[in-house]
Amino acid sequence: MSNRISRMIKPATGRTVMLACDHGYFMGPTRKLENPRRTIEPLIPYADTLAVTRGVLRTSVDPKWDTPILLRVSGGASILKDDLSDEEITTSMREAIRLNVASVALSIFVGTAHEKQSLVNLSKLVDEGEDYGIPVMAITAVGKELEKRDAKYLSLACRLAAELGARVVKTYYCENFSKVADGAPVPLVVAGGPKLNTEEDAFNLVYNALEEGAVGVDMGRNIWQNDNPVAMIKAIRAIVHEKATVKEAIQVFNESKKVDKQAIDTTVRD
Ligand code: R5P
Repeated sequence: MSNRISRMIKPATGRTVMLACDHGYFMGPTRKLENPRRTIEPLIPYADTLAVTRGVLRTSVDPKWDTPILLRVSGGASILKDDLSDEEITTSMREAIRLNVASVALSIFVGTAHEKQSLVNLSKLVDEGEDYGIPVMAITAVGKELEKRDAKYLSLACRLAAELGARVVKTYYCENFSKVADGAPVPLVVAGGPKLNTEEDAFNLVYNALEEGAVGVDMGRNIWQNDNPVAMIKAIRAIVHEKATVKEAIQVFNESKKVDKQAIDTTVRD
């Protein structure tokens, strides 16, 4: 269990940059993730962990890549439904072990029609994970109700997840995030949510989340929906692992943009 967690949350810094690419399980071909391999491959050298479903793992992830996998194992609803909370476990622990993943992840939907179902899903998954040394990450999902992302709600949801045995919790950054982190006795990572207006907004989110107690990010759209996804993940790594400020992250982003463009130009010439 500790070894698997250490593959994701790097012992050298106690932090992690997880790359979230599991959106298709309920959103279908999300913009810029239409072809998962094309999106994932250039980013993989900079990701401490890759979050995907088994379908994307099977079709779009090279088994030679040694990035630890965080396997999304819940699902059952699609973006066409108003209520996204009606999820079950969709991938067995046996399959997770066969796929040699570092961790499994599921969403919990506190305060929804399917609250109990999702919390029991978590508890059963934790029982199985503990049997085999596979850490479970709970995701405090808000479905379409993005306004739920406040400290009162998220501290409740994160604490419930930790109490039921999640080894890591993914949540959202919010005002007074330290209240959320203080109340959850397990490592927290933050999602990015829908793409923010500027790179600086995304860097501020990451910087503030870490300052207030998160151990890293599990971020998707703010990385791969950016026109310069590699520069974006490099800048986020600088904040997470090198304690870069937002200003320094912007410099890393601008510098990487130039280098990446030169590399593309050279490849095109070749
Ligand atoms: C939702 O599909 C998943 O839990 C995502 O992995 C999560 O929302 C993180 O991705 P993003 O940074 O795009 O919100």
